[in-house]
Amino acid sequence: MKDKIALFVFTVLLLLTGCTPAKRDTGVNKEIERKVDELVRKMTLEEKLGQMNQISSWGNIEDMSNLVRKGQIGSILNEVEPARINAMQKVAMEESRLRIPLLIARDVIHGFKTIFPIPLGQAASFNPALAETGARVAAIETSSVGIRWTFAPMIDISRDPRWGRIAESFGEDVYLTSVMGAATVKGFQGDSLSDPTSIAACPKHFIGYGAAEGGRDYNSTNIPERQLRNVYLPPFEEAVKAGAATIMTSFNDNDGIPSTANAYLLKTVLRDEWKFDGFVVSDWASVTEMISHGFAADNAEAAMKAINAGVDMEMVSASYIGEAPGLVKEYKVKESDIDEAVRNILRIKFRLGLFDNPYVDVPQKEVFYAPAHLADAKEAAIQSVILLKNEKNTLPVSASVKTVLITGPMADAPYEQLGTWIFDGEKSHTITPLKAIREMMGNEVQIIYEPALAYSRDVNPAGVAKAVEAAKKADIILAFVGEESILSGEAHSMAGLDLQGNQSDLILSLAKTGKPLVTTVMAGRPLTIEKEVNASSAVLYSFHPGTMGGPALADLLWGKAVPSGKTPVTFPKMVGQIPMYYSHNTTGRPATRKEVLLKDIPVEAGQTSLGCTSFYLDAGFDPLYPFGYGLSYTTFEYSNIRLSASKLKKNDTMTIEFDLANTGQVAATEVAQLYVQDKVGSIARPVKELKRFARIELQAGEKKTVSFELPMSDLAFWNIDMKKEVEAGDFNLWVAGCSQSGTPVSFEVID
Ligand code: GLC
Repeated sequence: MKDKIALFVFTVLLLLTGCTPAKRDTGVNKEIERKVDELVRKMTLEEKLGQMNQISSWGNIEDMSNLVRKGQIGSILNEVEPARINAMQKVAMEESRLRIPLLIARDVIHGFKTIFPIPLGQAASFNPALAETGARVAAIETSSVGIRWTFAPMIDISRDPRWGRIAESFGEDVYLTSVMGAATVKGFQGDSLSDPTSIAACPKHFIGYGAAEGGRDYNSTNIPERQLRNVYLPPFEEAVKAGAATIMTSFNDNDGIPSTANAYLLKTVLRDEWKFDGFVVSDWASVTEMISHGFAADNAEAAMKAINAGVDMEMVSASYIGEAPGLVKEYKVKESDIDEAVRNILRIKFRLGLFDNPYVDVPQKEVFYAPAHLADAKEAAIQSVILLKNEKNTLPVSASVKTVLITGPMADAPYEQLGTWIFDGEKSHTITPLKAIREMMGNEVQIIYEPALAYSRDVNPAGVAKAVEAAKKADIILAFVGEESILSGEAHSMAGLDLQGNQSDLILSLAKTGKPLVTTVMAGRPLTIEKEVNASSAVLYSFHPGTMGGPALADLLWGKAVPSGKTPVTFPKMVGQIPMYYSHNTTGRPATRKEVLLKDIPVEAGQTSLGCTSFYLDAGFDPLYPFGYGLSYTTFEYSNIRLSASKLKKNDTMTIEFDLANTGQVAATEVAQLYVQDKVGSIARPVKELKRFARIELQAGEKKTVSFELPMSDLAFWNIDMKKEVEAGDFNLWVAGCSQSGTPVSFEVID
């Protein structure tokens, strides 16, 4: 209550004094700038380089404290003990010459203790409020131990599921990633960075990392500037607009230039164009890795290139503090550039309120796994699950079902269910599907549990036979398969995307029993599961759903909740189709989907008798599931799409209205999606692009009129002249529940 009074008083004072709070901590705060300049003026070169130096906690607090005392450390990552953090902050604040607080950092990607679905799962919810809530919960738990900086959100556009880090992304789409990324920044940073529960966000990895060639992590990318501008940069621009305090560079070299030394990106785009006033941190040792790139001969050259490109803080490779004094002496680096880097760092430390109070005293037990946090995590998991198939309304499980077989390596895998990038989440707090179903249905149905396989890569044949035997006694089979968490995430690229181990054999063998088979997949990426889907009566796809994944899936399976997730990334039929994404260009010979495929090719077919369009003889053109796809326990009908105008000027805003009806028997939520196609441009344009979406709740039988506002300026793109402009011409527009559905309506933009 006292907080509310304080806020009320603060607001009244603001109104009386006429000054309003800076928008989300960006924009010049004169008082902070004065303090920053005053401090920089006092600092020696070594102290400045100390602020630019980040170490990863190596355990020995005396050693680290000695460096802190000498002013040689600006930030520490991977230290999570509040007592140790307080102790080192005390050394910084009371024993170092200039009393500059440390900035403690951690990878809190989808939760600190309470683990939310992996970001790819959160993206499937198409619910930015959910991402913001998850980030807020993570910030509250993280800041309670003294950590005030997270290396998230990861907003790399990811169109290659071989790449393990697709798990950390919001998927393939520019608009969805931009909206989810900005919401996550706001969740982490709250209304003010100075709030003790706020943590600095760090959108990463700048730039293009998700386009690693072959989906192989750390690999080169070759993204031309126009595509950078139209696809890879927009989510970062939105994150900067949302007030992101820091940005992290990416490991990859793009067109031969490692991002950690790309001055065009870090200065021209980030600083000059976007007016970013936070600080840039390298990725782990990505400064000295420029030696491995063959882009620097030694640590000195690597440090020089990174500092001169605008990387303010070096993560763990310590070349700045080691080499920069010499570089300054040799006039290879200007001390004024070092001053600018230190200003950027100190500005964020001041905004975080660390100079006033770097210490924590919140008893974590009230914060970690708070009931409200768990409830938020469960809701996030519910909304992140996608119903891919539901033959004969197998789901929700009928009340007539009295015996249930629960099987598969992911049915009771508390660690795996949490997903990748979990450093602080604890599997002991995970509620698995088995546990949740036993708790929820234990008195109403008989549950037979036969895991069949111990983990996703298990090839034990005996387990499958036991599950098949057990299935004979069951009315329905609930199989939980997927990936162990280690199979996605950093450095975990896969050349094949089939289910590992004997999981596929398990699904196909269970299908032969003729019993209704519900397959739930928990994974960090789309998998090539066409045959398992064909063998199953119903399929739920749950990207590693986190701590509360079990209760969420139990509610969905028994209909206490209704699936609403949509695919945030294209699901290929086979790896050979990759990269595959919905907003592709048409090409000069677009697939007709009437091509003759492998199985129908006549023997001795004439050379020109096949195709002549862009498709695969063996896989056709379509994916297993397109972007934006997901079923429900009800059905929806879109109708009566009407545009506020069919001809609009470039500075006009269109209102799109349509009716959406729930034509089924249960209340449910539909993710309505709005796509636009620029039919002819100064460059070839994508066949369609997502421009709006909204989650619409409808009671059974209810119909609502829904409207979107679309400024024509949102149709701007970087064109043939490398200018971001709206071009006059004809457009198509769709409103639908999937990127491949709906009937287009046309409109025209006029000069
Ligand atoms: C890793 C990742 C980066 C992470 C950093 C610190 O290598 O690339 O995303 O934030 O190092 O752990």
